Amino acid sequence: MSSSPARSPSETVVVSANPELVGTPGAGHVARGAVLGVGALVHESAYVDDGAVIGAGSRVWHFAHVMGGAVIGERCSLGQNVVVMNGVRMGANCKVQNNVSLYEGVELGDDVFCGPSMVFTNVLNPRSAVSRKAEYRRTPVGRGATIGANATVVCGVSLGDYAFVGAGAVVTRDVPAYALVTGVPARQVGWMSAAGHRLVSDGTDASAPDAEWLRCEGTGARYRRVGGEVMAVGGDA
Ligand SMILES: CC(C)(COP(=O)(O)OP(=O)(O)OC[C@H]1O[C@@H](n2cnc3c(N)ncnc32)[C@H](O)[C@@H]1OP(=O)(O)O)[C@@H](O)C(=O)NCCC(=O)NCCS
Repeated sequence: MSSSPARSPSETVVVSANPELVGTPGAGHVARGAVLGVGALVHESAYVDDGAVIGAGSRVWHFAHVMGGAVIGERCSLGQNVVVMNGVRMGANCKVQNNVSLYEGVELGDDVFCGPSMVFTNVLNPRSAVSRKAEYRRTPVGRGATIGANATVVCGVSLGDYAFVGAGAVVTRDVPAYALVTGVPARQVGWMSAAGHRLVSDGTDASAPDAEWLRCEGTGARYRRVGGEVMAVGGDA
């Protein structure tokens, strides 16, 4: 196509038979009022609505739909059939796998992984005949958290930093930072490191009651648990 794009082609990377148009605000299915960061990619089959913000280097794959008012951070990946609704906030470097809908009220920190076909919700007691738009509940998801394939997160709960939800779980209660939860309803079955390996006991910490040292099975990084709270010792290795 010979039409000139609204932005310099160097600002966006596109996958299209018409690379000058698709992935550029005002062209293809990308609304003129959308904002795409440098190097953002929008597949030609995806829709990005007026007012949506997509951070630099992020990728929006086949048949995805990003609604106006959604703000997506840098270097995120939205897989096939992903829907991001108005008001959703997503940090940097999040990976949202195929068939995930992010409803209003969902807030993802940086580095969040949403497994394929996992489900968020935003109304606790929906009825088709009753409008509950004023009753949407928030679902904050902490930095580095993982939600496994086909899991469901009931709205109004929060997932702590690096929380890990096993495949198929139904989360009905808050999940602490680094906690691993599985099952229906989800119950805590252990702790997971920032690197996504089990945390195993590395001895009692005598300096505080109900405290122990933990070690990442994968990297050897050390953590400290006091009661029901886990912290990384010297950073999230
Ligand atoms: C939760 C998870 C991390 C556990 O992995 P693991 O530490 O290697 O655990 P194991 O496979 O040794 O299983 C330990 C026990 O938990 C059970 N278990 C494992 N995953 C489970 C799950 N998602 N739900 C319920 N139980 C589970 C196992 O059956 C096993 O039970 P048993 O001791 O009675 O035999 C992993 O199974 C999981 O669900 N990962 C998410 C995968 C995913 O969704 N990926 C998306 C990208 S494709």
